[in-house]
Amino acid sequence: MKTQGVLRDKIIQWLAVAVLAAPISLLVSGIVVSRRVHAETRHEEPATPAVAWKAPSPGTIPQGELGESIRLGRNIMNKTPQYASRYVGNRMNCVDCHLNEGTQAWASPLAGITTIFPAYTKRDGRVITIEHRIQECFERSENGTPPPSNSQQMVALVAYMNWLSKGIPMGSTVKGRGLLQLTPPAHVDAAAGAKIYAQQCQVCHGANGQGIPGMFPPVWGPGSFNDGAGMSKVEKMAAFVKANMPKTSSGSLTVQQAYDVAAFVTAKPHTHFKSAK
Ligand code: HEC
Ligand code: HEC
Repeated sequence: MKTQGVLRDKIIQWLAVAVLAAPISLLVSGIVVSRRVHAETRHEEPATPAVAWKAPSPGTIPQGELGESIRLGRNIMNKTPQYASRYVGNRMNCVDCHLNEGTQAWASPLAGITTIFPAYTKRDGRVITIEHRIQECFERSENGTPPPSNSQQMVALVAYMNWLSKGIPMGSTVKGRGLLQLTPPAHVDAAAGAKIYAQQCQVCHGANGQGIPGMFPPVWGPGSFNDGAGMSKVEKMAAFVKANMPKTSSGSLTVQQAYDVAAFVTAKPHTHFKSAK
């Protein structure tokens, strides 16, 4: 697994160099594009107070039983099908969407989450616990089954998120919680999105959306999230992609391009979500 990670980073580096070597004219138009993007992007502060925050170093995970649980939670985040196998029905790791072990702004960070749950969610129309919210990502994003609230895996994930949230006041969350708030374009063009996908995404996510096992996650097909997942909604994927993709030059797509490519990807086959309840 280690060597795969190293290889993955090499490939990402190599792709980044390939992008830098692109003709100057492309670079210049890139700069113009990113200026325009800035104006198109709307950062809305959530109603919950949000504080600036820095990820703690893994070296600060305590010794003892609690530390073991936090470490297991971190492993589940990074290698979900391996460490929570009985609850996972695809190839997705939590960190494929919650980037950098759940510490990345605008990639739905998981710090400052145990400080604000139980919370009201629109999807449920009621106040839910953090365990319930995690179960939803298992059923939908992981296309699996919900780990019980008192299971070792669930306790470990909550312990990990609690550790990440150290120093964040109760009732507050972090700046960059959730995804970017974008103003949707007037028209969304999935055919234009198909071209963007072929040029800027396919190299890592594959011609059939299958990704490369152990390196790049799938974006459609049986290995991917199901059609009940947040990521299967055009506006959520557009917001994720706008801030985080393409991996080698995140932020380079316009809002229009992010919506177009999200419309193309979400229209591709995803497993149908069947609620366990
Ligand atoms: C396919 C992508 C994907 C995967 C895989 C995934 N999630 Fe999520 N998760 C999301 C999206 C999208 C949201 C909602 C973000 C939003 O709407 O602001 C979310 C939200 C959450 C939230 C609530 C965050 C908040 O700000 O309220 C938690 C907690 C969470 N996920 C935990 C997990 C855990 C734990 C795993 C792994 C077992 C996981 N997720 C796997 C995409 C994913
Ligand atoms: C250089 C490789 C690379 C390129 C190019 C790339 N991605 Fe990704 N993508 C990744 C990696 C790696 C992740 C997992 C998160 C991380 O580690 O950053 C990811 C995660 C994702 C996810 C969330 C996880 C999932 O599989 O559903 C989506 C959606 C996505 N990318 C869409 C796109 C789109 C759309 C493009 C083109 C505009 C693109 N990516 C270009 C490497 C890439």
